Amino acid sequence: MSRGAQGQKLTIAMPKGRIFEEAVGFLQQAGLQATGELKESRKLIIPVEGTNLQFLLAKPMDVPTYVEYGVADVGVVGKDVLLEEERDVYELLDLRIGFCRMMVAGLPGWKPTEAPRVATKYPRIASRFFREQGQQVEVIKLNGSVELAPLIGLADRIVDIVSTGQTLRENGLVELEHICDITTRLIANRASYRMKSEEVDTIAQLFWRAIPRRESNG
Ligand code: PRP
Repeated sequence: MSRGAQGQKLTIAMPKGRIFEEAVGFLQQAGLQATGELKESRKLIIPVEGTNLQFLLAKPMDVPTYVEYGVADVGVVGKDVLLEEERDVYELLDLRIGFCRMMVAGLPGWKPTEAPRVATKYPRIASRFFREQGQQVEVIKLNGSVELAPLIGLADRIVDIVSTGQTLRENGLVELEHICDITTRLIANRASYRMKSEEVDTIAQLFWRAIPRRESNG
């Protein structure tokens, strides 16, 4: 571990769930130990032996909250969560992992109704998108498995992330409109960025070097 990480304690918030495996692979690539323990343990705070680093394992939607309030100095989080949570944090790097897209989806042959309803885990993103389109919709917040909503008549469309497209396909839904592309980001607490600049910079550099690049000379 490089010199900077031996300084003040630095806490990194990691997201459990969808992007966890890829994010842990990324840490490994960046030369950070404790990846085994991150995967296997049920502990939520995991110190990295021989360094001043520790990991917090958090729900993805909570990562920006921990970082905004400074209980984590930096965090790994999807752009979907950043757009939804609108937390006051610095976005340092696009890690170019966790590629997916934010989509409007629905049943094939979907026709506009008089009182359209949209189900989603992302009410802010959905409301913003339809407002910008000049469409009035009722947004219904769900916490997961949103693909159910059009199948059982709760909503006529959904706003959700699509990765392989398997969940849509297996439920007979189709992509209707593209909202934006999503990747995983490294974020930092604003005060940590100033007060622990050496430590944050060391981590950002480690992460930057681990970013997958298409050209080997890049
Ligand atoms: C996400 C997303 C979709 C699915 C998309 O859900 O909300 O349901 O993954 O992936 P795919 O295009 O590769 O099928 P997640 O697995 O996070 O579970 P959830 O529905 O319980 O939130």
